[in-house]
Amino acid sequence: MRKKIVAGNWKMNKNYSDGLKLASEIINIVNDEVTGDVITILIPSYIHLNSVSKLLEGNNKIFLGAQNCSFEEKGAYTGEISADMLRSCGVKYIIIGHSERRKYFYEDDKLLAKKISIVLKNELIPIFCCGELLQEREQQMHFDVVAQQLEKSLFNLDSDGIKKVIIAYEPVWAIGTGVNANLEQAQEMHAYIRGTMEKKFGKAIAENIPILYGGSCTAANASSLFSAEDVDGGLIGGASLKSREFVDIIKSI
Ligand code: PGA
Repeated sequence: MRKKIVAGNWKMNKNYSDGLKLASEIINIVNDEVTGDVITILIPSYIHLNSVSKLLEGNNKIFLGAQNCSFEEKGAYTGEISADMLRSCGVKYIIIGHSERRKYFYEDDKLLAKKISIVLKNELIPIFCCGELLQEREQQMHFDVVAQQLEKSLFNLDSDGIKKVIIAYEPVWAIGTGVNANLEQAQEMHAYIRGTMEKKFGKAIAENIPILYGGSCTAANASSLFSAEDVDGGLIGGASLKSREFVDIIKSI
């Protein structure tokens, strides 16, 4: 049985006090209403991590994630935050390769491969994002684009490494646009991703990799998306900033 996971990526939203308020609300509702094996991950900004970690002490349903980390271990990299620093704040998961990092911060596949290995070396779990642009889908290049992203950033891992990775398929045209991939599009790509991982790492490993969907996932479409066989949960942006809606998404898994 693959793990079911719903992660909320807050991106660059919420100041310190608003963030703590949101985290507290989500934690309370999840504790009261969420049953079963779903793993919830809160991924606020760096400034919230230490405090949210304290709110999560002893909580076995909700875990802490970070949105990025440095590709280097430590040293003279002004403005960067290392995987070790994040772990010391209670972080367990780190998003690597979000399309916004690829687009605005020019993060390429090679750099992302380096980040994945730093994350694993620090015994953290990468949530590796992949996904095509609208024009790539229109040109029927979406499978090739995603395969390349997987190959270039994940295929150098050994079997112990890959077993720890979570993949998030996030078609760029769906992120923050209100236009989500439909059930068929999501299932088709998730099955393709699993097949690609199977060719490289074998069936037993591929079968156990959680593959999350991200891109305009809301309480209204989550049940449908999560019903797809190869969709193991969601990476939620905008809708994770509203406590009630985020928990409704978690409950729809
Ligand atoms: P969205 O973002 O849910 O706001 O579309 C998803 C993401 O970027 O992870």
